[in-house]
Amino acid sequence: MKILILDDEAAAIAKAAEILENQISQKPASVLGLATGGTMVPLYDCLRKSHAKGDVSFASVVTFNLDEYVGLAPEHAGSYHTYMRVALFDHIDIDVSNVHLPVGNAADPVAESARFEALISASGGIDLQLLGLGQNGHIGFNEPTSSLSSPTRVKTLTQSTRDANRQYFDETEDVPRYAITMGIGTILRSKACLMLATGPNKAKAVAKMVEGPVMASCPASVLQMHAKVTVVLDQAASKDLQLTDYYHHVHPRGAGSEFD
Ligand code: GLP
Repeated sequence: MKILILDDEAAAIAKAAEILENQISQKPASVLGLATGGTMVPLYDCLRKSHAKGDVSFASVVTFNLDEYVGLAPEHAGSYHTYMRVALFDHIDIDVSNVHLPVGNAADPVAESARFEALISASGGIDLQLLGLGQNGHIGFNEPTSSLSSPTRVKTLTQSTRDANRQYFDETEDVPRYAITMGIGTILRSKACLMLATGPNKAKAVAKMVEGPVMASCPASVLQMHAKVTVVLDQAASKDLQLTDYYHHVHPRGAGSEFD
């Protein structure tokens, strides 16, 4: 794992944006895996600004989002379809026919999961998968004890995940109980991963993901088994790591190393 520790949140966001923009400039028709959550809002804001300046074009980019809540129509205010439109897609030159999220209100969520997984394979696979980190170590909506080789499927959300996402819904009972999520196997098949975690609330999960054992009770720890993972952190999210001296030695302030 390449661990990049930046001074603060703004620097971490700028670094993650730089990595995504480099990916698109090297391969304009990149297949990107995208994530949602509060962490990604300033990142998408940064990409929108780069696009407005003419620094990046999404015209040939294909996207697959990690997950969507079961039962929510794409137009629902709390859906990840809406999140992505508001945060990014409505402001860039992406071809909407190249945008893919699981359909939360599909008549058959199990069949929808299989369709989504097949579509990722048919696209040639994900070049770069952006990931956020749940406080309980989840990636996508792969909650603790998820199979480490799972495909896209329906997962039951933990109470802690429902509590964390309560803010996006009017009433507690409106928070969905299930989600369609790319599986851990799906994520591991991507050619490269970019994990972005910021703030003190993520510090414990970051330490388990990077330096703990690979275990289903911290799904993100499976990224240790992937050959090409970049973890971008701010100081606050890195504070429970043990080997920070080494990470700073290899990548001072997130800089590239001689053999990158
Ligand atoms: C959500 C999403 C994840 C996201 C995570 C962290 O539940 N399904 O993809 O990475 O939780 O969210 P946040 O960035 O708001 O902390």
